[in-house]
Amino acid sequence: MAATLSTTFTGLTFRNPFLLSSAPPTESESNILRAFEAGWGGVVTKTIGLHPVVNVLGPKTKFLRADVDSPHLSMKKRPAALHSSWNWELISDKTLDWWVPRLGRIKAAFPDRILVASIMAGSGNDTELRHWQELATACQQQGCDALELNLSCPHMDRPDMGSNVGKDKELVSIVTKVVKEVAAIPVWAKLTPSTTDIVLEARGAFLGGADAISSSNTFTSLPLIDPETLEFEVQVDGYVSTGGLGGPAILPLSLAKMSQLTQAFPDRAFSGIGGISTFEHALNYFLIGCGTVQVCTAAMLDHAIGPNVIRELTSGLARFLERHADKGWTTVDDFVGLRRDRIVAQSKIRRPDEKDYRGGYEAEGYAPESPAEAGRHGIGTSG
Ligand SMILES: Cc1cc2nc3c(=O)[nH]c(=O)nc-3n(C[C@H](O)[C@H](O)[C@H](O)COP(=O)(O)O)c2cc1C
Repeated sequence: MAATLSTTFTGLTFRNPFLLSSAPPTESESNILRAFEAGWGGVVTKTIGLHPVVNVLGPKTKFLRADVDSPHLSMKKRPAALHSSWNWELISDKTLDWWVPRLGRIKAAFPDRILVASIMAGSGNDTELRHWQELATACQQQGCDALELNLSCPHMDRPDMGSNVGKDKELVSIVTKVVKEVAAIPVWAKLTPSTTDIVLEARGAFLGGADAISSSNTFTSLPLIDPETLEFEVQVDGYVSTGGLGGPAILPLSLAKMSQLTQAFPDRAFSGIGGISTFEHALNYFLIGCGTVQVCTAAMLDHAIGPNVIRELTSGLARFLERHADKGWTTVDDFVGLRRDRIVAQSKIRRPDEKDYRGGYEAEGYAPESPAEAGRHGIGTSG
């Protein structure tokens, strides 16, 4: 069989498994049209809400850079390697009414590309839960192929919005279920990495009927303080609030979160996000069990919608399939999850010279009482 970049994810056919994630690259009709022209297999729109939002004064996103020859990190523009993006941008400042005709036009212009509508509402009472349904219904009526629930925006003050929903497994489940009641298209839940055990919130999403989980949104973080001025590198009138970290710095962090998810739910669908700018980065997500991946920071820095990034991703995948043709690999599905089960408990990693390690239990006098208990603690028995 001839190799193909196309893949099926949550029942949808993608011409390639690479999407722009919900963020500035997908904040307008013109950006999304340009993204499809550039070759992205899908886009997730900037998150759409019912009510207008007002962003802070000044820049909403800055880029932190690292010197190659010193430990210096700063947002000041200079020739240095990208460390991360930092943002405190809210959801789309355009409301559903603005988006509706545009979603229809985008879908009509590119019927074969996957258009995912990211949506967000409050979840504090029945009226607000109905807002989720209103958003979902309007987007699917315009031909959107899937919905992504933003349960992960890290800068919402309200306790029943964004990552504050994503930190509450019951609310995650309720919101997902409410949307599923009206959705005729797949529903993806985008979870926050800012929780202790993301598997709990993922279980809530799947119980609510989610077809896939997207992870990660940005990680809660602060800009650094300039040692000269003693001011935060991003601030308004001297004040700052926590924002979200994206880009290269979060690739290993996001992979760790994702591996927890794919191991807990090996038969479910996952869309990997965080720190991707090349096929090598994306490959990590595929190998631990993601069927698609999404990109934000790298695209923002590449003509706003990542024409070079998508070229590198697709040619990288084509080259990779060619290199592994002898294994019979013809699509990304042939290697999704191939390294998922290589991530194990520390006690399962081989020690030199037959030395045994029991997760610290015996050494500290906490030897488990029974083999069953040993199993529960994930303690290796071979030495
Ligand atoms: C400026 C900015 C705005 C963002 N807005 C949204 C948003 O509206 N909805 C959402 O789900 N994620 C949003 N994100 C998160 C990204 O979609 C993505 O999950 C995150 O940046 C990690 O990917 P990256 O490392 O490729 O940047 C935003 C990120 C940035 C940098």
